[in-house]
Amino acid sequence: MLDLKRQYQPLEQELLAALQHVLETQQFILGEQVASFERAASAHLGVKHSIGCSSGTDALWLALASAGIGAGDSVLTTPFSFFASVSSILRAGAKPLLADIDPVTFNLAPEAVEAVLKAPQPVPVRAVLPVHLYGQCVDWNAFAALGQNYGLRLIEDAAQAWGAKWNGKPAGMLGDAAAFSFYPTKNLSAAGDAGMVTTNDDQIAERARMLRQHGMRRRYHHDELGWNTRLDGFQGAILEVKLRYIARWNDRRRTIAVRYHSLFQKAGVVDSGPYPGKGVVLPQEVAGAHHVWHQYVIRCARRDDLREFLASRKIGSEIYYPVPLHLQAALKDLGYREGDFPEAERAAREVLALPIFPELRENEQQTVVDAIVEFLG
Ligand SMILES: Cc1ncc(COP(=O)(O)O)c(C=O)c1O
Repeated sequence: MLDLKRQYQPLEQELLAALQHVLETQQFILGEQVASFERAASAHLGVKHSIGCSSGTDALWLALASAGIGAGDSVLTTPFSFFASVSSILRAGAKPLLADIDPVTFNLAPEAVEAVLKAPQPVPVRAVLPVHLYGQCVDWNAFAALGQNYGLRLIEDAAQAWGAKWNGKPAGMLGDAAAFSFYPTKNLSAAGDAGMVTTNDDQIAERARMLRQHGMRRRYHHDELGWNTRLDGFQGAILEVKLRYIARWNDRRRTIAVRYHSLFQKAGVVDSGPYPGKGVVLPQEVAGAHHVWHQYVIRCARRDDLREFLASRKIGSEIYYPVPLHLQAALKDLGYREGDFPEAERAAREVLALPIFPELRENEQQTVVDAIVEFLG
């Protein structure tokens, strides 16, 4: 599914030198290396502020809290994402509300969001937290309009979307603030847990810097209840090295995605979608989006059998995500039930992510497609 050693080998000397520099400076937490990575990240995205923190989950919490979201607020998001998209809202003290997804992109559907916004809500909706799932931005024209019309904060969950764009503008500077994850499987990845908040808003940035260090502006003077969510120097050093390669890596992912498309088309197994028939539905890059293919996710009616078949051929695949968030045991208190979000529930039964990473070889890709074609008969 993913071979990180292939990324490490050609970078080994550069990465070791960067780590050695951290050891020489002995600045292990925040410090010079983290500040340098933050500046490089801001320059790369063209965003005013980048605030490194200890994970994507913390970045979501930090973005929400810094934007002033907390008790007495609702935040609208998707049921088809990683758990942290919802748990971070609860961690910020707010109430999560969900709306269904678009069956083509798997991203939060703006029409579904608007329907929730129009309905009376016991706790006022203050923010929307759309997730740029699999590396493709949500329809930002629609979300920007919703933000304006309903007076909402927009917080991007850009955990899977470093380098993705909407109408030429990068994820991370579309909303009021954004959260990135540098978990090792992400397209820009650390050697451990790491995350980042980005924003063009000076106040949000200042607050995020304070909240990531126990609410301190002055050492040992705590203005607010924050948390310890600092980025460490080794991760900053590694990320700054990898940032030099991310554009090239994302281009490789795009090439691989195009090749998957043409291999499946040639094999004659593609259903037009959005739902699968006897073949597979391929993922689409929609107009306006510049997709970075963090994942290449097909739909298949016999998804579980296909996955088992691939495993028997030693081909990795993954399900992002098998259980929609409204059906997670930990979130039962939200009060949703099976049937509430039919698109998310159907996607959870049909999606399958295939191997995609910059170093994936052509023959390996061919093997994946051949196996799927054989399975489909
Ligand atoms: C969409 C999404 N949001 C949030 C996160 C949380 O990031 P992390 O694992 O770095 O805490 C992830 C990554 O796992 C993710 O994929």
